[in-house]
Amino acid sequence: MSDSQFVSRCTADAMSNAATSLLAGHLVAFPTETVYGLGADASNADAVAKIYRAKDRPADHPLIVHIGSMDGIGNWADEIPAYAIDLARNFWPGPMTLVFQRSINAKDFITGGQPTVGLRVPDHVVALALIDSAKKIGVPGIAAPSANRFGHVSPTTADAVREELSEYLSAEDTILDGGPSTVGLESTIIDCTTETPHILRPGAITQEMIEEVTGLKVTDAESEIRVSGSLENHYSPEATVVLNQAPASGEGFIAMKDVATPDGVIRLSSPTSIEEYARTLYAALRDGDSQGLSTICVIPPSGDGLAIAIRDRLLRASRGR
Ligand code: TXA
Ligand code: MG
Repeated sequence: MSDSQFVSRCTADAMSNAATSLLAGHLVAFPTETVYGLGADASNADAVAKIYRAKDRPADHPLIVHIGSMDGIGNWADEIPAYAIDLARNFWPGPMTLVFQRSINAKDFITGGQPTVGLRVPDHVVALALIDSAKKIGVPGIAAPSANRFGHVSPTTADAVREELSEYLSAEDTILDGGPSTVGLESTIIDCTTETPHILRPGAITQEMIEEVTGLKVTDAESEIRVSGSLENHYSPEATVVLNQAPASGEGFIAMKDVATPDGVIRLSSPTSIEEYARTLYAALRDGDSQGLSTICVIPPSGDGLAIAIRDRLLRASRGR
């Protein structure tokens, strides 16, 4: 049904209605600084099942639980290493998800049956207000994947959520509009179940930042833990994404601003910094799809830090759906 509530002004009333809706077992899509999430009460199995149906997501892919502050870790996780506390203190609220051994409160329907749970404190006023309002009425955390159909590009605006999901949401579900996401790429996921942290998915919190705060060497090593973001066909638009190749006339093109646009090519994004590249990438890919382009050529950014996360997503996008 396409008549789910679309709330473009996140007033106190709208937030309390959305929290009540979560408690009643409905879905609320909400903004975060990374991408928009599709949220449900993380303690309600029926509500969480609606997320999987709306996304068409396989049941064994775990969800991140969004909490209001690091005080919430103990409710969801057991065995919290000292380095994880350092990470939480330094980077929460922020674009970082920490994976711990789960507590008895993190049920199979959240973790996909795995013994671990992913937690994040998002850095967005609307997300934090929603988490807080919901907690006050008995919702201990909000389970939320990115608010897109499984395998598609994550949405960074409320309009993109509506285009992706409105036909799969019910009239009781809500989409909150908090403006465009400022980071634009999904959070860094860090496995905190081992002696030293492992990056499971690169993001805006970089290896260098993690090493500086923890004083530990971070390996990007393979992990036993399955991350659905590691599937090959992920983060993909309808168009074919081609990397490091000159675009032909009629094709879309994404590259740093100093790279010229060949004649007849449709420029989708011209960022002047790595941050802007991340922030605009998904909207540019969606733009290419809405213009019906069959091919989008992309020159990935070079360098370390956030550029690593951008190249990671582009590589997956280029492998197709
Ligand atoms: O920035 C983000 O992380 C966004 C916003 C909405 O918070 N969320 C997001 O969720 O990207 P999702 O479900 O699209 O991607 C989360 C990834 C999935 O690949 C999932 O497999 C992995 O996190 N994940 C969640 N819990 C995990 C766990 N316990 N162990 C390993 N991976 C986990
Ligand atoms: Mg996702």
